[in-house]
Amino acid sequence: MSSARILAIESSCDETAAAVVEDGRYVRSNIIYSQVDLHTIYGGVVPEIASRAHIEKIDPVIKSALSEAGCTLSDIDAVAVTYGPGLVGPLLVGVAEAKAIAFAADLPLIGVHHIQGHICANYIENEDLKPPFLTLVVSGGHTHLVMVKDYGEYEVLGRTRDDAAGEAFDKVARAIGLGYPGGPKIDAAAKNGNADAIAFPRAKVEGSDYDFSFSGLKSAVLNYLNHAQMRGETVNRDDLAASFQKAVVDVLCEHAAMAIREYGAKDFALAGGVASNSALRAQMARTCSEAGAKFYLPSPIYCTDNAAMIGVAAYTDFVKGNFADYTLNAVPALKL
Ligand code: KG4
Ligand code: ZN
Repeated sequence: MSSARILAIESSCDETAAAVVEDGRYVRSNIIYSQVDLHTIYGGVVPEIASRAHIEKIDPVIKSALSEAGCTLSDIDAVAVTYGPGLVGPLLVGVAEAKAIAFAADLPLIGVHHIQGHICANYIENEDLKPPFLTLVVSGGHTHLVMVKDYGEYEVLGRTRDDAAGEAFDKVARAIGLGYPGGPKIDAAAKNGNADAIAFPRAKVEGSDYDFSFSGLKSAVLNYLNHAQMRGETVNRDDLAASFQKAVVDVLCEHAAMAIREYGAKDFALAGGVASNSALRAQMARTCSEAGAKFYLPSPIYCTDNAAMIGVAAYTDFVKGNFADYTLNAVPALKL
């Protein structure tokens, strides 16, 4: 078969993104329009504003992705789109756009699971990475410890019972006045703080070794802030950021180490927006080397929401001929 080029579209949250990916690994273009400036003043993503911005940006973003890849639609072999999980309005914009392009250009349509996309981001820069491997997906909406058994075949070992890791970062950042998006701001503040200054809890979840819970940690941070305020004490934001971040990173690494040993995993990959966190990247690298697994992670540009990862994930379906029809719809709570 000659090379296969997939035009991929991602619009599940607040990034409007399009990419052209060849043969499931080679990124010919990767255009991301981030709406973050539109949502910052509200302290989080406003779904209606996100949907409208996706509608405005999706055509120019796709045109840029095609032109940067030196393609027209006649060079494309399939159109892939994230159909869940995510915000329903934003997802619908991408799904409707992908269906329209597939219909107009008579191309096969592929519906992609957003989390599978995050995991597949690891294939882009790591040519030697192949299933089976263990992966931890940490993003604004998800915290999943997953065994990738084969291309397109996943077993979820653990997931969060409440807040996602990124959500905890965003909520704590808001509580200490760092603003949105919180993850990168806590990461930066923590560099000037002492991670041992405040003893925050490392949550255990009853009944599952691999599930996560971050709402107790978030409450502990809020309690700490309230107590300090009542006593008229000033809080050292950098110390708080560093101590909170360490509590999250410790739990993520502990679960990863346990799973690597129990499953005898030789390879471990991080994925999702929180995989950009500098403390997590450093500590997980040490965890993997101690547990005897090779450590993989995408560059920050492939950790955040992007369409290249969707084009990579779609390739497995393309090869298998797993195509969607025009009834493809947004599924906000799509399960892995
Ligand atoms: O994967 P992503 O771009 O979108 C979702 O699918 O959710 O992840 C966004 C999340 C946000 O919660 C953001 O605060 C977090 O990733 N994040 C970080 C860092 N960069 C982004 N969290 C911690 N440290 C970072 N450096
Ligand atoms: Zn994501």
